[in-house]
Amino acid sequence: MLAGRLNVETKEFALQEVPIPEPGPGFVRVKVGAAGVCLSDVHLIQGLLRPQFLQGSEVTLGHEVAGTVDLPGPGVTSAKPGDRVVIQAGYEYNGATLTMGVDYDGGWAEYVVVPAGVLVPLGDDIPFDQASIIPDAVSTPWGAISSTADVRAGEAVGVWGIGGLGAHGVQLLRLIGAAPIIAVDPIAEARERALEFGADYALDPMAEDFPDAMKAATAGKGLDVALDFAGVDAVRAQAIKCLGRHGRLVLVGLSGTPITIADSTGFSFARKQILGHYGSEAHHVPQLVNLTRLGRLDFAKSVSGRIPLSEAAQAVKALDTKEGNPIRLVLIP
Ligand SMILES: NC(=O)c1ccc[n+]([C@@H]2O[C@H](COP(=O)([O-])OP(=O)(O)OC[C@H]3O[C@@H](n4cnc5c(N)ncnc54)[C@H](O)[C@@H]3O)[C@@H](O)[C@H]2O)c1
Ligand SMILES: [Zn+2]
Repeated sequence: MLAGRLNVETKEFALQEVPIPEPGPGFVRVKVGAAGVCLSDVHLIQGLLRPQFLQGSEVTLGHEVAGTVDLPGPGVTSAKPGDRVVIQAGYEYNGATLTMGVDYDGGWAEYVVVPAGVLVPLGDDIPFDQASIIPDAVSTPWGAISSTADVRAGEAVGVWGIGGLGAHGVQLLRLIGAAPIIAVDPIAEARERALEFGADYALDPMAEDFPDAMKAATAGKGLDVALDFAGVDAVRAQAIKCLGRHGRLVLVGLSGTPITIADSTGFSFARKQILGHYGSEAHHVPQLVNLTRLGRLDFAKSVSGRIPLSEAAQAVKALDTKEGNPIRLVLIP
C-alpha cells in the first residue's frame, strides 16, 4: 500500500510502497477514508517536533483519521468490518502518551492499525473528510477550552491563530457562550473567517493600534483567557500582556522555544497563569461526534481541499506557506 513516510533523522518525507499492516491481538485494521494535514506534521518534517517514543527512525505520518473497520485482530469484539469510525490520536501505554503518526504509524496511508480502544463510532451521517479532522483540529481546541482553560460563559477570550485549530476554537467558544471572542491573526483572510465563524472582533497582531483595540474590546479589563493556536513566540509575549486579573494563557501551539515573561512582577500582581495543553481526553472526541450529529457543530466549511494521498508533499507545502489560506487540507487515499 501507499504510505507517506518520514525519516526523523534525515527529515526526508516520501510516499512509499509498504506492506499492508496486520492487526495483532487487541488491535484493529482500519481502511483510511480521509486524513487531515496539521501544522504539527509540518513541524515534524522540519524537525521542530521530534517523536519521543518512536521505535526506529521512520514513521507514517497522519494523526487525524477517519475510515472503515477492515479487520479486527484476535480477541476484538467491539468493532466489526464495515463500521464507520474516527480514530482518537493518542493512547496511554506504560504510563506514556503515544501519538498516532508520531510515535507509531499513522493514517497517511491506505490502512492503519490501532488499538481497538481508540475507535469512536461515527454513524452514517458525517462524511469522512469532515470527521477525520475532529480528532485534533477540533478535539484539541475543545480540550483546551472545556478542560484546561475551563472557559465559562461570559468570559472574554482571545484566540491567537485562526488556522485549523483556531477556526474551530472560535466555533467552540461561540457554542459555550464565551463573550467577547477576540480573534487575532496577521492574515486578513483568516480574520475574515474568524468573524464568519462567530468571533466578535478580529484583530491584526502587527497593527500599531493592537493594544488599544484589545483594550476597547475587553472594556479595559483584559482577557480572562488567551489561547495560543499559532505556536509562534511573538504570540506568547503579546498574549500575556493582554491578560486581565486572574487571566490564563493556554499554550496549545508548539514552538519548542523558551517562554519569557517580560513584566514578571505585573504577572504576579495580577495573578496571571500559563497552562500547557496537549491533545484531548478520551471523552472529548465522542462528545464532538455527538455535538455534530445533533447539529450543534458543522465542519462543512472546515475542509479547504481534498488532496490525493500521492500528493501529500504538496499539501504539506501548501499548509506551511499558507497557499490558498487553508483551514484544513485532507488527504484521500
Ligand atoms: N498541543 C497540541 O495538542 C497540538 C495539537 C495540534 C496542533 N498543535 C500546534 O498548534 C499550532 C497550530 O496548528 P494548526 O494546524 O492550527 O496551524 P495552522 O497553520 O492551520 O494555523 C496557524 C495560524 O496561526 C497564524 N499566526 C501566525 N503568526 C501569528 C501571530 N503572530 N499571531 C496570531 N496568529 C498567527 C497563522 O496565520 C495561521 O492562521 C501548531 O503549532 C501545531 O503544532 C498543538
Ligand atoms: Zn495535529
